[in-house]
Amino acid sequence: MEKNNSKPLIIANWKMYKTISEANNWLEKFLSYSRDNVEIVVAAPYTLLGNLREKIKHSSLSIAAQDCSDKALDQGAFTGDISAAMLKDIGCEYVIIGHSERRKYHHEQNKIIRQKVELALKVNLKVILCVGENLAQRESGNYLEFVWQELLACLPERIDLSNVIFAYEPIWAIGTGKSATIQQIEEMHSYLNEHLNNLLKNTTQLFEKNAKIVYGGSVTEENSSSILSCNHVAGLLVGGASLDAERFYKIIKNL
Ligand code: PGA
Repeated sequence: MEKNNSKPLIIANWKMYKTISEANNWLEKFLSYSRDNVEIVVAAPYTLLGNLREKIKHSSLSIAAQDCSDKALDQGAFTGDISAAMLKDIGCEYVIIGHSERRKYHHEQNKIIRQKVELALKVNLKVILCVGENLAQRESGNYLEFVWQELLACLPERIDLSNVIFAYEPIWAIGTGKSATIQQIEEMHSYLNEHLNNLLKNTTQLFEKNAKIVYGGSVTEENSSSILSCNHVAGLLVGGASLDAERFYKIIKNL
């Protein structure tokens, strides 16, 4: 998984932000900028997905959901849940699974995340699978092994990994304004890349052509270009700095 010729994948994670009119304003601004150098995905709250699908119809943007149900592939008596098939139906191409905020506030364990990954892949959604260590794990020195084991625990057996994008998001860097350093990012991405290659040595070449490991955690217009130039960093997952269309555009323009 050396850097290949595919475009960097830049994902805007809007979290629980934006009304329909705020999203429309963002799109109006953002779609007026040119952005051929990257592939862009907007991960929006469920309430915005239908509207987004209509608005981006004639653009190259893709949409993602920020989670899906682990309970059933398509439907069932699960109040408040949204299934992977429903996301596909509303026009999502991607879904974020295992974000640390889901793990923290909704107590999602690797087992549940693995189930979500399996269901999402079954309906042909591309999965953005988030992994990352907390500060105590980093300070213990065991962070590389921790993240690799977390990643493994979230992967269902016998799946085609060509539709999985791995997002390394150190928890201590999310929303803190303190991104990981270039050295820390390269260390983790190289480690994951090497281990993924070993894992997949005997499987299809498809994965090697398509697999991506993206970085997330306090990405801004100031650091996006140096982070993206790191080895084995195929894209960025941007939270806070994606909420403002101009700021998000600067992140892309600076690449
Ligand atoms: P941040 O969030 O860019 O605001 O740190 C990243 C994320 O949570 O995906």
